[in-house]
Amino acid sequence: MVKKTYDIAVIAGDGVGPEVVREGRRVLEAASVLAGFGYRVTEFPFGAEHYLATGELMPESALAEMRDFDAILLGAIGDPRVETGLLERAIVAGVRFGLDLYINLRPVKLYHRDLTPLKGKGPADIDMVFVRENTEDLYVGIHGFFKKGTADEVALQEMVMTRKGVERAVRYAFELALHPSRRRRLTLVDKANALRGQDIWTRVFEHVGAEYPSVERQHAYIDAACMWMVKNPEWFDVVVVPNMFGDIITDLGAAIQGGMGVAASGNIHPGATSMFEPIHGSAPKYAGKNVACPLAAVAAVQMMLDYIGEERAADLVERSLATALATGKIRDLSTSSGIPTQRYTDIVLEELRADSERPATG
Ligand code: IPM
Ligand code: MN
Repeated sequence: MVKKTYDIAVIAGDGVGPEVVREGRRVLEAASVLAGFGYRVTEFPFGAEHYLATGELMPESALAEMRDFDAILLGAIGDPRVETGLLERAIVAGVRFGLDLYINLRPVKLYHRDLTPLKGKGPADIDMVFVRENTEDLYVGIHGFFKKGTADEVALQEMVMTRKGVERAVRYAFELALHPSRRRRLTLVDKANALRGQDIWTRVFEHVGAEYPSVERQHAYIDAACMWMVKNPEWFDVVVVPNMFGDIITDLGAAIQGGMGVAASGNIHPGATSMFEPIHGSAPKYAGKNVACPLAAVAAVQMMLDYIGEERAADLVERSLATALATGKIRDLSTSSGIPTQRYTDIVLEELRADSERPATG
């Protein structure tokens, strides 16, 4: 049998990015051996160091090159030495928009009740997935200043929503709700009462929803959704949400699943090169200290494996991560845990090897 070989682009990036990507790659390596696939990694240098040394953010040519990869693994981008948002917009948003990665998929799953700050909630209550629209809304970058720096200054940032953009996100979410792992409930989160432009989400949701009669449709305004996430997280299964609110509510999601140390996401254009990343960002103050929890990067690798079609490897990684947390072998995902970065990975790898040696049952 010919071994399948994947081309993976890696942008380790800034801050703790390189440390957690290094750990994610250890899991990728172990999974490739166990599941029997090959891969080649090409590293892209983009980020603060590269920018400060060369003045280059991310050239168009790199974006074109990335299209030829099976997937992209991103660490984190952002550095206080560089103008606010410059790197994030050029690289994170640059890849999202440049490759039209219109879905930002963010699972929120709790593996042990001690990991959530929510009193009385456990793994059965916290298992949802966010479908964040990823190429529109306030993120399109249309903004401007009038009379900048004066007492009469006017600042604008436009919220842009297109029928196509909304519809493809909503359709993706309905399809996901039908997946055997889900519970066939889809919640639309928006603020269409105050932001009447978001009525487009309400209408598209109804329209597309008619094609999915077996999916239960729910709706919550973003403010109420935040309240419900804390009070009754069990209420959520699949959630579809515009870009800006999706950014915010998924940090809340990360908090209730155990923190930024374990929250991952996929920037996806179905059928095309997609990008996987931990959602925690570069956390510059922890860089190089060996205290960052790499499990979010490990979870990003798991999502990447699933996406490229290595479902068995993805399952192995998911189970190992789940077991390491569910058994309490890893109890603390915070930077103050005292657990060195690579030790987290060691524990997951121990589970991975033990699991793969177990005889198949059933
Ligand atoms: C995220 C990040 C990004 C976003 C930043 C880095 C541009 O916060 O992936 O959630 O706002 O989308
Ligand atoms: Mn964010």
